[in-house]
Amino acid sequence: MIERVKEFPSLTIIRHPLVQHKLTILRDRQTETKTFKELVDEIAMLMAYEATSELSLEPREVNTPLEKTSGWHISGKKLTLVPILRAGLGMVEGILRLVPSARVGHIGLYRDHSTLQPVDYYFKVPGDTAERDFFLLDPMLATGGSATAAVASLKRAGANRIRFLCLVAAPEGVRFLSRAHPDVQIYCAALDRELNKQGYILPGLGDAGDRLFGTR
Ligand code: PRP
Ligand code: URA
Repeated sequence: MIERVKEFPSLTIIRHPLVQHKLTILRDRQTETKTFKELVDEIAMLMAYEATSELSLEPREVNTPLEKTSGWHISGKKLTLVPILRAGLGMVEGILRLVPSARVGHIGLYRDHSTLQPVDYYFKVPGDTAERDFFLLDPMLATGGSATAAVASLKRAGANRIRFLCLVAAPEGVRFLSRAHPDVQIYCAALDRELNKQGYILPGLGDAGDRLFGTR
């Protein structure tokens, strides 16, 4: 259910049929805001199932109603979700349903429309950064400028275990992010063809933030 691409060793493409089915509806220009939001939420949850598959476990005893037995507990590293505002917000609730104890930080970045450079305006993550596993969330990895800047901010704050989850990635963005931060595992549901001159992913799904929040 996952695919690897030789050129991008840090990239995992999640090919699960449910993810691919939902992503195709998400891409459809006719899909309305309400459905778009529900689909982003569901795809993020399904992707998180895969992206959490390597979290380490520690043994834990449990008393069933009948006797004591051994089980497992996700080890000390506290999972922290960090959506990149705005569109990353759409991925938070779905993942929290799987990992309700996760903390949530926020990074505010927008892409300047003419230069395509990220402009940052907000940063707040929980303390103990070195003790945490970070899932950085943004549906779109286009030029990679926003994700790369967000990872750099997390690292400056002391984070050293960061995964980046997006729905649609462009090769240009994967290249830029993985060259700058080869230690960051990237998960996506689709690796699309290219960027257009305005920096939109082709075929893509349009402007994720606008479609998610009904702005335009
Ligand atoms: C979009 C998207 C990413 C960024 C990707 O956000 O959600 O954050 O663009 O582009 P990049 O890889 O070229 O940096 P946008 O800047 O439109 O802000 P918004 O979420 O507030 O709409
Ligand atoms: N941001 C988006 O929302 N969509 C794109 O295709 C590229 C950047």
